[in-house]
Amino acid sequence: MPTDNAAAWDRHSAAYQAGARLPTDVAHYGPDIPSEAEFRLLGDLKGKRVLELGCGGAQCSIAFAKQGAIAIGVDFSSEQLAFARRLCDKEGVKVELHQADLADLAFLRADSIDVAFSAYALGYVEDLGRVFRQVHRVLKTGAPLVFSLPHPAYDMIDDDAEEPLLVRRSYFDQTPIDYEWNGVGFTDYHHTLSDLFMGLTRTSYRVDTILEPEPLPKGPRSQHWREAFRMVPRTLIVRARKEGN
Ligand SMILES: C[S@@+](CC[C@H](N)C(=O)[O-])C[C@H]1O[C@@H](n2cnc3c(N)ncnc32)[C@H](O)[C@@H]1O
Repeated sequence: MPTDNAAAWDRHSAAYQAGARLPTDVAHYGPDIPSEAEFRLLGDLKGKRVLELGCGGAQCSIAFAKQGAIAIGVDFSSEQLAFARRLCDKEGVKVELHQADLADLAFLRADSIDVAFSAYALGYVEDLGRVFRQVHRVLKTGAPLVFSLPHPAYDMIDDDAEEPLLVRRSYFDQTPIDYEWNGVGFTDYHHTLSDLFMGLTRTSYRVDTILEPEPLPKGPRSQHWREAFRMVPRTLIVRARKEGN
């Protein structure tokens, strides 16, 4: 039985937020890699309606709002959203927060979103096609969906094991990945590059960017840091644009 990830995030939220200490002035894409300040995938957000999928504590949405966007965050974890509300108050920033599954964006009008963004949430979604279709409906034609998720090559290794790194799971193994984080169980889903590309293309997106960033050479490391990040890409970033309906 796959884990109930919403319940898992409710249990894990406090520990995650205490350890993550994410910035609220610039959008992040994942642990120990450059941020939107360097990648510049989203463009000028002033006056734009920006939807964040799996917003968690809403740090990225807060950054979007600070840049003049109308920021909308969606997450299914009530604890993550409670943290997000407190953080928005503390930062004096308005973000429209919704508790919903990413496959159910019925509260948003069609063709109403200028940019959709997601950092490390889509790896928890089994049926990404449903999410791509929902996001396609709400995006304006030509507007981007930009997301990061665990790189599928990273799923092959056990980054807690002693060196040398070994391939412990087949790249072609599509079974869910169950893991524990601070005693809380989660389920991740393995999405290969071709699954993502084909899933987006079938749903009428045009993929224009794929990034596999190397870790930053130095600096304070995140709570997720492993030496393995130097050898296997940890994060995959994709930008795709909505084509006509
Ligand atoms: C690793 S956290 C990332 C949160 C935030 N983007 C960040 O970078 O801190 C993943 C988030 O996605 C949310 N999430 C995962 N699957 C979801 C789904 N199907 N519907 C809504 N939210 C989801 C979780 O509740 C969690 O807050």
